[in-house]
Order: sequence, then C-alpha cells, then structure tokens
Amino acid sequence: MKHLAYLNKFFWKYRWRFLLGILFVGLVNWFRVWQPQVIGEALDTVIFNVKHYNETGGIAAHPEAYRELGTQIGWFGLQVIGLALAMGLFMFLMRQSIIVMSRLIEYDLRKEIFSHYETLDLAFYKRHSTGDLMSRISEDVNKVRMYLGPTILYGLDLIFLFVLTISAMLNVSLTLTLWSLLPLPLLSISIYWVSNIINKRSETIQQQLATLTSTAQEVYSGIRVVKSYAQEKAMGAWFADQTEIYRQKSLRLISVDAVFFPLMMLLIGTSTILTVYVGGLEVVAGNITPGKIAQFVIYINMLTWPVTAIGWISSLTQQAAASQKRINEFLKTQPVITNPVNDPRPLRGHIRFDKVSFVYPDTGITALRNVSFEVQPGQRLALIGRTGSGKTTVADLLVRLYDVSEGRILIDGKDVRQLDLHNLRRRIGYVPQDVFLFSDTVEANIAFGQDGITRAQAEHFARSAAVHDDIMSLPKGYDTIVGERGVTLSGGQKQRVSIARAFAKQPDIVLLDDCLSAVDTNTESQIIGYLNTALAGKTAVIITHRIYGALEFDKIIVLGDDHSIAEEGTHEELMARRGYYAELFERQLAGEDLD
Ligand SMILES: Nc1ncnc2c1ncn2[C@@H]1O[C@H](COP(=O)(O)OP(=O)(O)OP(=O)(O)O)[C@@H](O)[C@H]1O
Ligand SMILES: [Mg+2]
Repeated sequence: MKHLAYLNKFFWKYRWRFLLGILFVGLVNWFRVWQPQVIGEALDTVIFNVKHYNETGGIAAHPEAYRELGTQIGWFGLQVIGLALAMGLFMFLMRQSIIVMSRLIEYDLRKEIFSHYETLDLAFYKRHSTGDLMSRISEDVNKVRMYLGPTILYGLDLIFLFVLTISAMLNVSLTLTLWSLLPLPLLSISIYWVSNIINKRSETIQQQLATLTSTAQEVYSGIRVVKSYAQEKAMGAWFADQTEIYRQKSLRLISVDAVFFPLMMLLIGTSTILTVYVGGLEVVAGNITPGKIAQFVIYINMLTWPVTAIGWISSLTQQAAASQKRINEFLKTQPVITNPVNDPRPLRGHIRFDKVSFVYPDTGITALRNVSFEVQPGQRLALIGRTGSGKTTVADLLVRLYDVSEGRILIDGKDVRQLDLHNLRRRIGYVPQDVFLFSDTVEANIAFGQDGITRAQAEHFARSAAVHDDIMSLPKGYDTIVGERGVTLSGGQKQRVSIARAFAKQPDIVLLDDCLSAVDTNTESQIIGYLNTALAGKTAVIITHRIYGALEFDKIIVLGDDHSIAEEGTHEELMARRGYYAELFERQLAGEDLD
C-alpha cells in the first residue's frame, strides 16, 4: 500500500471532485436502501387491506376496494420509480466525479512519466528494454487507473451499502438480521479463496500471453531473416506449442470460474431460505409484518454484490500497488546528466579532449583510454579506427550522451559539463551511425526539432545532402511518409535524409558518424562539396572508414585497438609513418583501381 501513497498528491489536486464523488456514492446508496422499505410497506398494505376486506364481508362488499387499493399501490409505485430515478441521477453524477477523476489522474500520471523518461540519459535506456518502458507507461498506468476509478468507486459503494443496509435490517429485527447474514461470512471466505485461485491462474495466463506476443512481434520484425532462412514452419510450430500452453492454462481458469457463480448462488439461496423460514416464524409470533420478509430478501440480494466485490477489490488494489511500485522505481531514477546552466550562445567550435577515458557504466567495457587531442575552430578532424575502437563513443561524449569517466572535454575552453546542455546539443549537428527516421513525412524528418522551416529551406538542405532527387522520385515527394508505416528508404537514402536533418539545424559543429558508408563516390563528393562551401568555417568531426580525397583534413586521428590514440597527424605525416592509416589508404586506392 505504501507505493500507492504516491498518488495522494493527485487526490489532493482533485480533492473537491473526490469529496463530491463520496457524497454522491452516499446518496445513491441512501436511495437504494430506501427502495426495499417502500416495497415491503406496499406488500404490507395489500396484505392488511385484503385481510380487512375478507374479515368485513369479502371483497364483493367493498366496491371501492380496487380503486382504493389501486391508488395506494400506484402511490407506492410512484415512490419506487422516484427513488430509482434519484438513484440513477446520482449514479450518473458519482461516475462523473470519480471515474472522471481517475481519467484525469491517469492523464497527469502518464504525462509525468513521459516527461520524466525524456530527462533520463542514454545509460538508462540501455539498461531497460523498450518493452519495459512501454509497459510501465501503458499497462501499469492502466492498472493504477483501475484502482483510482472502479476500485475506489466500488469500495466506497460497498462501505456505504453495507453500513446503510445492515442498519436498516437491524432497525427491523436483530434476530432476523443475524440469521439471514449467517451464510455471508462463508460466502466471503469461499469467494476470497476462489478469487485467489483465479488471480494466480490469470497471472500465469498473462505471462504466457506476454511471451506469445513478444515472440510474435520479434518474428514479424525479423520477417526478412525468418523468410530468407526458410524458418516459417519452425516458427509456426513453436508458436503453436506456446498457444497450446496458453489454451490449457485458459481452460484451467475457466474450470474455476465455472464454480464461482453456482457457489455464490448456493449461498445466497441458503440465506434466502433462512430469511423466509426465520422471518415466517417471527411473523407468526407477531414480531414483524410479512412485508419485512420481502424487504430482507431484497437486502440479501443487494448485499451479495459487495461481498463478491471484496475479493475483486483487494486483488485490483494489490495489482495497482505492484504497478505503482514499478512506476515509482522509474520516477525515482534521477538523470545523471543534467543541465547546469541556461546560457544559450553560439559555439566557436574549439574542441579539446584532455586525457579522456571512458568505461561503459553497465558493462564495464573500456571504450576510450587516455585520449587527448585538440581541434581549432573551423578545422576538420577525421577519426579513423577499426570497428569497436571507440569512435562512436567520442561522438557520444561530445554531445554528452554520456559523461567522461576520467579527464575532461572542453568546448571553447569550458568543460562540457558546465555548458548549457540543450544549447550544446542544439548547436552540434550530429548524424549518428544508426540512422533513425520517424514514421512521418520526409519534410518533417528533415525539419525535426526546427520550428518554422519552410518547404524551400527543407529542399535546400536536402539538396546539400544530395538526397533531393531521391525524394522527388518518391510517390508524394516531400509529403511521403517514411519509416515503419510508409515507404522504406534505402540505407543510403536514410543516411542522407539524416544528414539533411543535421544540416537543417545550421550547426556550429558538424559531427558525422560513418554516415557516408552507404553512399557512392559521386554522391559523397556532392555532400563534401557542401561541407567545403556552406559549412567551410564550421568545425567538423568526421568518423569514417574511408579516406575522402575531396575533403582536406586538418588532422587525422587513428584510434588503436587498445582504445587510445595510435596515430595522429596530417595525411602526409601519417603516410610517412606507414601505420594503419597508410595501409587503409593504399587498400582503398587499390580497390578504387579495381572498380
Ligand atoms: N552502450 C554500450 N554499452 C556498453 N558497451 C558499449 C556500448 N556501446 C559501445 N560499447 C563498447 O565500447 C567499445 C567502443 O564502441 P564504439 O561504438 O565507440 O566503437 P566504434 O569505433 O564506433 O565501432 P564501429 O566502427 O563499429 O562503429 C566497443 O568495445 C563496444 O563493444
Ligand atoms: Mg561506431
């Protein structure tokens, strides 16, 4: 329960709505408990009158009998209808206040989780799977919503109904109340017992369903691999096995479910028989009127629902507590990387790595070891090295997706940890190695994060990234939806759209991570042409496996397999050293000759 205490602030926020809701629940039950009394009275009136007519010469001697009785019964009927209408009205209002409150809190909570997720750093996202993040913001919030809405509503309903009904019963007869309530504890114990079994079984079903859906999802997203390895049959067989397990578990649940209602009916039936029997004795003894028996039978039926609901309410509350615990766990996670100041000013583009080492926090893998270098404003740096040598890590550290483990990174002479974080990221045009496009139009993908970019501007940046012609050949040009639900672009097209996106930021520092790998030489020189002209004065860090003849680098750094700098210098200097760079260059030349 202590996990659910987190929600108190929301109850406080919506306190008036909540209090009003409680009032309405009370009123609904007040009218509800009133109704059987009217019915009991109506019955008594009829019995009394019929007896009276019979004693005074039979009904034939009273021509006015039907009219009189009719008026009286009609009057009772109107009362019952009036009570039902009042109940209906307040039931509507009670749902309007409490269920609406739960929806409002759901909205607030989801918004809070989403914006908290966004503050968390990359390391957090590496630690938790996307599925986990998604289930906490959707399913877990739903469970909490069920607690805030229906559970609280029915909980309150139950309390009011119990107190009001039992006091109304006690008002009539203590003996009859005790006898008719006798089977109720038995009912609640057995219902608690059965619903426990139901809960356990539904939980295993839920887990099985989760396995089933996540695997199916994986098969669909990896359909290319599945099909090209001709594994459809094997996958289908596996899925059939899992579905069979699911079927068996569901049947086990249904068998318990099937016991539930008969058991309930049996106990209510027992209660009703006891009421009629003991009530009959009381009527004979002259302690109560026959109408009271009718009233009691209605009460017993009214009480069944809350008694059954106890198990349901407790299990929903437990589920909500477990969900809120999972939500709190993430809400309590604080981002390691935060924005220290608000200081949005342009960057000159001086970069200095000062004895930087970096170890990935969760895996303990050393990705950089004692790396120091300097890039002057407007200079071009090429970062080269074997796969896994730490090039992407250098880029990630520069935009502070991670913070260094040792040493420091200075931009314009200031430690990046003291710079305005959002400004830093806004002013660096980073094209990451694993290109990602949103399921949106091409134009929106290029303009991502830049409000007020016109179509003409988007086209200009697409031209600079040499992707304009490709876009124009798409069915709807710049309005074509790309990504999961749209047109699939080729690897090279995606790379260039994401380069256009980075150019559209008009960055002070350009950071390209291996993003010309899937581009032919001709296109490559177009893009490099843009770097040489429009971005001539900007600092550029280009991570690559290829050496571009068209692009003069002021400095080239080769990261070695030990994650430290192996070679550093200009093209001529490195060629003279005859190390990895020279080897790469010569291999590339030989390859180009072969083309
Ligand atoms: N998120 C991560 N968590 C843990 N270890 C990582 C992570 N990303 C990279 N590494 C490890 O850090 C080392 C450097 O990785 P990095 O991605 O910087 O290499 P790279 O030089 O960019 O390689 P490539 O040329 O293949 O892109 C590798 O050994 C890699 O296994
Ligand atoms: Mg990389």
